Amino acid sequence: MPSSSGASAPTVDHGLVDLALSGLLQPQKMLPAKLFYDEEGCRLFYRITELPEYYLTRTERTLLRQIAPLAVAGLPPDAALVEYGASDEAKAKDLLSQRNAAGQTAVRAYVPIDVALPALDRMRVRLAESHPWLDVHPIAADFMQAIALPAAVAGLPHLGFFPGSTIGNLDPFEATRFLVRARTTLGDEARFLVGADLRKDPAILLPAYDDTAGVTAAFNRNLLVRLNREAGADFVASAFDHRAVWNNEESRIEMYLVSRHRQTARIAGRAVQFAAGETIHTENSYKYTAERFIEIAARAGWRARYTWTDPERLFALYLLA
Ligand code: AVI
Repeated sequence: MPSSSGASAPTVDHGLVDLALSGLLQPQKMLPAKLFYDEEGCRLFYRITELPEYYLTRTERTLLRQIAPLAVAGLPPDAALVEYGASDEAKAKDLLSQRNAAGQTAVRAYVPIDVALPALDRMRVRLAESHPWLDVHPIAADFMQAIALPAAVAGLPHLGFFPGSTIGNLDPFEATRFLVRARTTLGDEARFLVGADLRKDPAILLPAYDDTAGVTAAFNRNLLVRLNREAGADFVASAFDHRAVWNNEESRIEMYLVSRHRQTARIAGRAVQFAAGETIHTENSYKYTAERFIEIAARAGWRARYTWTDPERLFALYLLA
């Protein structure tokens, strides 16, 4: 309803309000990491992937270019590439360009799965131009839910693809559950190429999540800016510091927002109190040894056929079957 000044009242996403409040009313305040990715969050994440400290994206990209021919070798003809969390086609292109022994493109169809419908639409338009021979069937969905593939690709051999170490943002239990679901979606004959960051010296890990340019800090604080805009909240984002911590026992980087002083924020009228130094846990990023990752995959019924790592053993790509 328009206000008396003529400006329309901002709309409040009640699902988001409930999600935020259920996390912020716990003894250890938390906000789910999936809330990072509004438009500004996606833009900031893209900047993170280009930071000198954030080795993950460029290391995976180099490795992927090297192993792409091996990942598709021996795939039955006319395969469908099913990518989980496909915000763009940049990584898939390395697989889409591969040819089989007969000289034909190894992949005939591409099924990008992502929550962001506009990004999927833009991708479809770009691919129609760059890969006119490719059947593209985007699915707008949360990849943690059960997903049924479109009938047009159901009968084709499937190569699943989950790059970027996004699997590391799930805890090991959720990762196993995701891998079980992916097995159901992709079928018994499928292969699944998964990228996951490796456990390593915290001296390398910590700067990747606390860069000198402050982009990760802005990415973290943007969660509060989003709640202000979409959940009727009134956080002063600059009153929270960014903190990244290595949890050795859990083998994960943890990200927090730390209240600089005692303060109260309101979310859709509901007050949330913060003591000075109190934290909001915003993300976990698990770092697996290859052995541990293979064990988690095995629990979900996948066998690791190949494990590829870069020479510095920063990052791994696993071909599961
Ligand atoms: C998307 N995901 C794999 C990133 C990570 O490394 O865990 C998210 C991120 N958080 C801070 N920097 C990057």
